[in-house]
Parts: sequence; structure tokens; C-alpha cells
Amino acid sequence: MQSNATIRAEDDQQRDSVIDLSSFQKPLTLEQAMQFAYAVSVPCIITDGKRGLNAPQIIAANKAFCDMCGYTQDEPLGQSPKILQGIDTDIEDTRTFRDNLEESGQGLICLINYRKDGSAYEALVIGTRLDITDSDETDHSAIYMTFSLHITEAPLCLPTPPKQWKN
Ligand SMILES: Cc1cc2nc3c(=O)[nH]c(=O)nc-3n(C[C@H](O)[C@H](O)[C@H](O)COP(=O)(O)O)c2cc1C
Repeated sequence: MQSNATIRAEDDQQRDSVIDLSSFQKPLTLEQAMQFAYAVSVPCIITDGKRGLNAPQIIAANKAFCDMCGYTQDEPLGQSPKILQGIDTDIEDTRTFRDNLEESGQGLICLINYRKDGSAYEALVIGTRLDITDSDETDHSAIYMTFSLHITEAPLCLPTPPKQWKN
């Protein structure tokens, strides 16, 4: 029987492979982080640790993420998460999100992003920095793993505060 410490990959390429999480020791290798991202069913991307114009770059995008955004599995690779932005994306909020990630290693944002076909969705994006052992793979000792929860169709997740909570 499959133990609690194992997960079955849902990604097409990794279907039928079982990842033993108990064998993961921090810091992870880039390969282990990517195996994890491909195994989870929540939309997830990994970016490198670069900063500056058009940084970071997406180095892995799982099936759930590609299904949510309408991309093939290769299309997001090498691109900035800015490909998800559009006219109603609050750029100041995304900058704060990026700065929080870089400064404290974690970030949380509720924002409007866009699918490949231009349609908008509201997402709760949670990001974390992950130290990796094989920094030569990415030129950086850390990568970022970001999970996006599509909330447009589940507005009750973030209810409007009752009037008495407001000033
Ligand atoms: C790890 C990471 C993940 C990000 N994910 C998203 C995302 O899902 N959606 C989005 O609109 N911006 C995302 N951003 C923010 C943009 O990539 C970009 O940093 C931000 O919009 C600031 O843009 P600027 O370089 O023009 O100042 C992410 C940034 C980082 C560092």
C-alpha cells in the first residue's frame, strides 16, 4: 500500500511514477523540486532566482497550471510570470509580491491574471523560496515555487467582510 509519504505523479510524463517524499532532505536538488511540482495537482510553477528585467524565468510548470492557463507544457518555460498579466492586473501589488518573496522568502497575493486566450481569472498566488543544492543548474542557490488557486468560481473562499468590520 502507498504510504502517506508518497505521492503519485499526475503529470503525463511522470504518470505511474511514485515519489517518496520521505527521501527528500533539505535543501532539495533542483530535480527533486521539479518532481514535487509535477506531482502536485494544484497549479504550480518554479522560477529561477534571477532578478531584474523580465526576471525571474519559469523553469517548470505543472499540468494543473497549464490546464488552468491554456498553455501547453512547454510554452511557459523561459518566460516571465508577467505573461500572465493584463490590463486589470495590479502591477504595484505584483511588485510587492515579488519584493516580499525576495526579502522574506514568502509571498501571498490575490490578483487578476490572464489565460493564453486573453480571458481573465482571479487567483490566490502563494510563493516560497526554496534553497537548492545544485545551484550550478540555475546560477542561483535558490528557486521559487509558486502555487496558484483559481478563485473566480469559488468566491465564498474570500467573502467580503461584513459591514460592521469596516470603519
Ligand atoms: C516567483 C515569482 C512568481 C510570480 N508569479 C506571478 C504570477 O503568478 N502572476 C503575476 O501577475 N505576477 C507574478 N510575479 C510578478 C512578476 O513576475 C513581476 O516580478 C512583477 O509584475 C513586477 O514587474 P516589474 O519587473 O515590471 O516591476 C511573480 C514574481 C515572482 C518573483
